[in-house]
Amino acid sequence: MIHKKILLSAALAGLAFISVYSQSNPFNGTGYTIQKKVDAGNGAVVSAHPLASMAGLEMLKRGGNAVDAAIATQLALAVVYPQAGNIGGGGFMVAHFNNGSHITIDYREKAPGKAGRDMFLDKDGNALTDLSQSSHLASGVPGTVAGLFASMKYAKLPFKTLIQPAIDLAENGFAITASQAASFNNNRDEFLQQNTSPVAFVKDGQWKAGDILIQQELANTLKRIRDQGQKGFYEGETARLLAEEMRKGNGIISTGDLASYEAKERPAVVFTYKGYQVISMPLPSSGGLMLQQMMKMIEDRDIASMKFQTTASVQLMTEVERRAFADRAEFLGDADFVKVPVKKLVSEEYLKERMNDYVPGKAGNSKTTGAGSIKESEETTHLSVIDKDGNAVAVTTTLNDSYGSHRVVAGAGFILNNEMDDFSIKPGVPNMYGAIGNDKNAIAPAKRMLSSMTPTLVLKDGNPFLVVGTPGGTTIPTSVFQTLVNILEFGMSPEDAVNKPKFHHQWLPDRIDIEKNFPEDVRKQLEAMGYSIKLREAIGRTEVIRVTYNQSTKQRSIVAVGDKRGDDDARGY
Ligand code: DON
Repeated sequence: MIHKKILLSAALAGLAFISVYSQSNPFNGTGYTIQKKVDAGNGAVVSAHPLASMAGLEMLKRGGNAVDAAIATQLALAVVYPQAGNIGGGGFMVAHFNNGSHITIDYREKAPGKAGRDMFLDKDGNALTDLSQSSHLASGVPGTVAGLFASMKYAKLPFKTLIQPAIDLAENGFAITASQAASFNNNRDEFLQQNTSPVAFVKDGQWKAGDILIQQELANTLKRIRDQGQKGFYEGETARLLAEEMRKGNGIISTGDLASYEAKERPAVVFTYKGYQVISMPLPSSGGLMLQQMMKMIEDRDIASMKFQTTASVQLMTEVERRAFADRAEFLGDADFVKVPVKKLVSEEYLKERMNDYVPGKAGNSKTTGAGSIKESEETTHLSVIDKDGNAVAVTTTLNDSYGSHRVVAGAGFILNNEMDDFSIKPGVPNMYGAIGNDKNAIAPAKRMLSSMTPTLVLKDGNPFLVVGTPGGTTIPTSVFQTLVNILEFGMSPEDAVNKPKFHHQWLPDRIDIEKNFPEDVRKQLEAMGYSIKLREAIGRTEVIRVTYNQSTKQRSIVAVGDKRGDDDARGY
């Protein structure tokens, strides 16, 4: 379902699109254009929507740091990019500060207190994916607002300043893009079916580019958050409206679940790759750990000499992707609840052994190459920010599917996630991205569902060099992996690294997914080796910032690039 939606919106967005979303003032939500690339000297923000990138840039110019910009951008995305920007979902932030420290903040949704391991099985034990993907039961307890307030510890500007662009855009409205109009039109029936109260995303007749979207109920919720802080979401009127929505739709999130939600700071995944330092998200995201496994499995194989998207380099990357995903299915889950052999999974010896059965020129096989043996016990969105002082922030947030569960909390105007589907609802049953799992990722009250989101920073000589991330379900870790290899090994420009065709392997199903324009001769050679290959819709929307230093002038130059696959937009100054 999501794939079709993403396909259409990506296709529409791909049309070279010179639209000007009407009249005059960019910051009141009209009169803006999409800017794919910016060269800057001070700071930059890149996100899924121009108005959100502009909100972040505005905070940088007002003296805010990268965290201020990330908060303002996320809040604006909750208004201008409702398919994934959210306050009813969750996400992860990875930040590096110019004093050399780095942090991650986990604001992943968690299972409600009344959730149970078999809640998505019928009496005969069959998996009920409709319920885990599209019902009030599909929603985890939202984490985003707690995450924003946990991030405030590192921000400089007052929260009321950071949230105001979002409030204005919701209350006064903004002009929607062509792809947003198409997306609302495609989702119209589902919004009507899933909601008993009117929702802002449905209007009489069809949406078109330049139409103004006003979200008054969402504006009121944002004002409660502005005035009451975290409690403006997790307690009081908003919590009451959410609990009421649950009661109406037979959901189980209680006011107690909301009041007890906490974002958590966690030690980052940190590893070196040929002298670069990579910083990424730890569990409950699988992303950072898988990225580490994949990078380390290729590190000593001189992939640079194989060159970009040759049969040899694609095969090598496919085989490490296969192995990382097999381990994900077997070993990963919320480490606050289950034991995960993290150290072993990333140890040099183990990763070397994992590649023992890799044969260049011959397709691997997911039946014979499963998880390693361990003896010891279209929707998400990414934003990247760099500020003038060298602080860097990567944030990926999600509602899971495009528009999450499509349930809009009546009276509060925000969409609820369908993140419960990221749990393994039954061992071996694929989730909506085809990922499988076992007991490690089974549902338990208050447990966080495993994620693939991979907000990532790469440092060179201790300074931010790349800020990277993308949506795309299970294609996230493999897209981030490819982006890093494209830049670090194949010497590509950020633009090419983002926009050239991507490919993906996730162990099961045992096939390579490729984007259109993937080189035909490479495809044929891989098929001849024994790989099964499937053409698929756009993979992700990667947002990259690259910072380089001129040693003689001591000048920094920043290039920020928004993915051509969407309305993604880069701003800087
Ligand atoms: O956390 C995860 O891995 C998923 N919920 C992400 C979903 C996603 O990226 C959808 N975007 N296209």
